[in-house]
Amino acid sequence: MIFERFKGVFHRLEEVDSTNTYALQLLKNSLPSQGTVVITESQTAGKGQRGNHWKSNTGENLTFSVILLSDIEIKNAYYLSMICALAVHRTLMKYLSGVEIKWPNDILVDGKKIAGILIENQIRGNRITSSVAGIGLNVNQTHFQSELTACSMKTICGKDMDRETIFQEIYTNLDFYFARLTEQNTSLISRRYHDQLYGLDKMLQFEDAGGSFSAIIQGVDEDGKLKLMRDGKIFRYALKELRFSVNL
Ligand code: BTN
Repeated sequence: MIFERFKGVFHRLEEVDSTNTYALQLLKNSLPSQGTVVITESQTAGKGQRGNHWKSNTGENLTFSVILLSDIEIKNAYYLSMICALAVHRTLMKYLSGVEIKWPNDILVDGKKIAGILIENQIRGNRITSSVAGIGLNVNQTHFQSELTACSMKTICGKDMDRETIFQEIYTNLDFYFARLTEQNTSLISRRYHDQLYGLDKMLQFEDAGGSFSAIIQGVDEDGKLKLMRDGKIFRYALKELRFSVNL
């Protein structure tokens, strides 16, 4: 299955409720080309994972969504998360050290969250026909509600970074990894993702419906579940079933 590479169509908006919502509307009402981007200076209702609100200071960061036209079996949905995380990770590695991917697709630097990703899929039957990959990256913001758990490129490098350059790099890297996915090179994607996975083979503290416990991260399943070794047995957790004890 060969898909087109990204076409470089950009919708640049001063303000919008959410770039993901806007991109989903484009998919509903038109025929956007591969890799169409919705990017804004300000979101009034930015969406985060688990129904959270994504907060980002106006004009300081990157908040954008990329439309991915695909034909992927639902069971492979997690590879979309992996490629988005890898695209952001690869970009940040040029500028920063200590960059890791925290399951499912948060990007951390020295244990603090610098970027979040929210993917919303359009499904027909058992296949994903298109997705909106929303990326929020803290670039030049220096004050956060929770400074212990959040950071930006500027808080680490100590200087303003060029948002347009960084956006173009993420876009190019996402185009690269999406091409690997459409040619079904899932082993490369999974290997690179696991190479950067926060906490791999380490004993960490978690919480599930039964309370708090320690376990060792073994990796991530093909279906996106986190594999934990607990008391000598492997347990598999979906996103909604588990929290890391220090929550970012
Ligand atoms: C998370 O909770 O970590 C995911 C955050 C995703 C935020 C981005 S900002 C651009 C895009 N539009 C949204 O409404 N959300 C995503």
